[in-house]
Amino acid sequence: MKLVALLGLLAASVASAVVIHPEFDTRADLPSPECVAAIKNIGLYHSTYDASCAQLVYNCLANLNGTKDLWSTTSCVTGATCQGTNSLVRLAQCYDSNIGNASDISHLSYNIFADIVGDCAWQEGGCPITFQNYIDWFYGALTAINSTVWPSDVETVRTNWWNYILDWTLTGDTLPYTNFDDWLHYSNTS
Ligand SMILES: *[C@@H]1O[C@H](CO)[C@@H](O)[C@H](O)[C@H]1NC(C)=O
Ligand SMILES: *[C@@H]1O[C@H](CO)[C@@H](O)[C@H](O)[C@H]1NC(C)=O
Ligand SMILES: *[C@@H]1O[C@H](CO)[C@@H](O)[C@H](O)[C@H]1NC(C)=O
Repeated sequence: MKLVALLGLLAASVASAVVIHPEFDTRADLPSPECVAAIKNIGLYHSTYDASCAQLVYNCLANLNGTKDLWSTTSCVTGATCQGTNSLVRLAQCYDSNIGNASDISHLSYNIFADIVGDCAWQEGGCPITFQNYIDWFYGALTAINSTVWPSDVETVRTNWWNYILDWTLTGDTLPYTNFDDWLHYSNTS
């Protein structure tokens, strides 16, 4: 089965969701078993499936443009936080052969960081991301892609996604720019 058709079938099972189907590179018409497995796991992280996360990941994959600027697209960054950076990068590699190792991807766009934390991003010393910043940004990213599905509740967002990032960065209750950028490039959580 062609990868695009497979993706369509999987996407069709996400009830009531507005699904954007990323186009595959024709060279990738015969997907590797790794890519088939990765696509089946879209929206699944730490054994929990979340349909809103899947929407962000689909949008990310649909917007790859042949550059290594994965962390300059909001749905890719939000998608990494709910899908795992490793898993998202592997998916992106299935769709875009220019995307190499996670460590080679460009730095997190500072404009995206400023979208998350607000104006204090531009002040001396900046400021770290709080949980409230993260959740507002996550819901904002879903609104921006016209998603009709949302995380089940705020606690899920905290325990399934946010806390795993903080457990890796060891930055207490908040997340500074540099540590978030490191998490995107070097965290190995799958
Ligand atoms: C690719 O997308 C990124 C993120 O939106 C953007 O910053 C970059 O300019 C785009 N590059 C090209 C060549 O379109
Ligand atoms: C990824 O990194 C490994 C180890 O540094 C290297 O051997 C490999 O060639 C890299 N792959 C790409 C696609 O850059
Ligand atoms: C969201 O919906 C608006 C209004 O229908 C439309 O203009 C916009 O292009 C949509 N955005 C996306 C990302 O689909």
